[in-house]
This record gives sequence, C-alpha cells and structure tokens, in this order.
Amino acid sequence: MYEPSEDSFLLKKHIKDFCKPTPSFSVLDLGTGSGILAFEAAKYSKNVTASDIDEELIKDLKRQHNQKNVNNINLKKSKTSLQKVGIKKIKFIHSDLFSNIKGRFDLIIFNPPYLPTKTIKTKDLITNSSDIKKTIKNSDDAIENKKIIKNNYKYIDLDGGKNGTEIIERFLKDAKKYLKKGGSVLLLTSSLNKNIEKLFKKYKCEYKLLEEEKFFFEKLYVWVLR
Ligand SMILES: C[S@@+](CC[C@H](N)C(=O)[O-])C[C@H]1O[C@@H](n2cnc3c(N)ncnc32)[C@H](O)[C@@H]1O
Repeated sequence: MYEPSEDSFLLKKHIKDFCKPTPSFSVLDLGTGSGILAFEAAKYSKNVTASDIDEELIKDLKRQHNQKNVNNINLKKSKTSLQKVGIKKIKFIHSDLFSNIKGRFDLIIFNPPYLPTKTIKTKDLITNSSDIKKTIKNSDDAIENKKIIKNNYKYIDLDGGKNGTEIIERFLKDAKKYLKKGGSVLLLTSSLNKNIEKLFKKYKCEYKLLEEEKFFFEKLYVWVLR
C-alpha cells in the first residue's frame, strides 16, 4: 500500500475547494491507496467512491471503513449524534482505472503512478510501501529482501510506464466519459512526465495549473481539467 507522501498531501490540499455538500454531488478517487484522498473528500461530500487496482487493498479498506462506521454508530448511542461525528459511507471498488466504474461524477481525483519505469529503484519501493517495510523487517538477509521485493511487488504504486505517462494517458482517454456536465478532474503530475500539456491537448482537456511545488529531484503539479 502506498504510504501518503508529498504528492498525496499536495493534492489533498485542493479537494475541499472542489467538493460540495449537496446529496447528488459525487466524487471518485481513482487509485485510492491508503484512502487518504477519499476520506478527505468524504468530509465535504456525501457521495464518495474510492477504487484501486489492488484487490487486497480494497478488501482491507472496506473492512476498516465498516469498522469505523460501527464505532460511529456506537457513539450515537452515547450523546454524540451520528451527524455530528460525520458518518459517511464510502463505496470501495476494485477496478483497473474505469473498468468496473459505473456512472458519472462531479469530481474525479487521481494521484497516478507517474514514475518512468527506469527511474524506479528498490530504495523508492522500500520508502513508499508499508507492506514491504513490514515484510523486510522480518528478514535480515539483503539478498533475501531483494528477492521478496522483486517477486511480490509489481511497482503498481509508482510505475507510470516508459515515460511515466502511460497510466495518465489511459486515464485521460476515458475520463470525460465518467464526468458529469460541468465536472472537474483533479490530477497530480510530475516534472518527470515530459510534455504533459501536449497530452491534455491530445485528449481535448481544458486545463489549469493550481499549484506546483519542488521536492528533491522533481517538481509536482496539481491540475484541474475539464
Ligand atoms: C501514487 S499512489 C496514490 C495513492 C493515494 N491516492 C495517495 O494519494 O496517497 C497510486 C495508486 O494507484 C493505484 N493504481 C495503479 N495502477 C492503477 C490502475 N490501473 N487502476 C487503478 N488504480 C491503480 C496503485 O495501487 C496506488 O494505490
């Protein structure tokens, strides 16, 4: 599971401004990972769907979320009202991008895997995945660790394909079909993704840069697309 990092926090900052509390307002968080962005959206909108290609992760999120709701219901029995604690149902779906997604949304949030394959190092994987950290803690042998990582992790959190834009391009190709009229996409990209604006134009997206920030070896960008 991808541990929330600078990219997650940068995108998270903008979610509030794009959410509405009206019952029909719907949000989709694609590639939800830890669920950090979906949970943020659920603070401001009632109808949130979160999806990821990682099936185990989605099962885990469903379990955790149901547990949270049960705890909230117990609170209701005490003096705190259900509304006050903000109980909200997030719908979790296992999906390769839009493959299992139905309907249209007012807001689609996507923090995609965007690293070009060749730039991914074992080091990045260890830093970014709590699952790997847990696994390798139980093994002192460096060669054994490398084997574990190579065999068990397909870099799905980070690997954006050859130029880092393959997943982004697949996303852009279909995103409009899942947006309601007047809806928006919040998308995070990196300076490692060359010619990103060319891709936006190719898929006829109107785009505006909301924020950019420099981190170590790259710049991160938050875009709104329509
Ligand atoms: C960079 S992480 C972002 C996680 C989380 N949204 C955040 O901001 O911390 C990218 C996420 O996309 C998921 N992912 C990768 N390829 C995907 C695909 N084809 N369809 C859906 N999710 C995908 C990964 O499993 C991972 O959880």
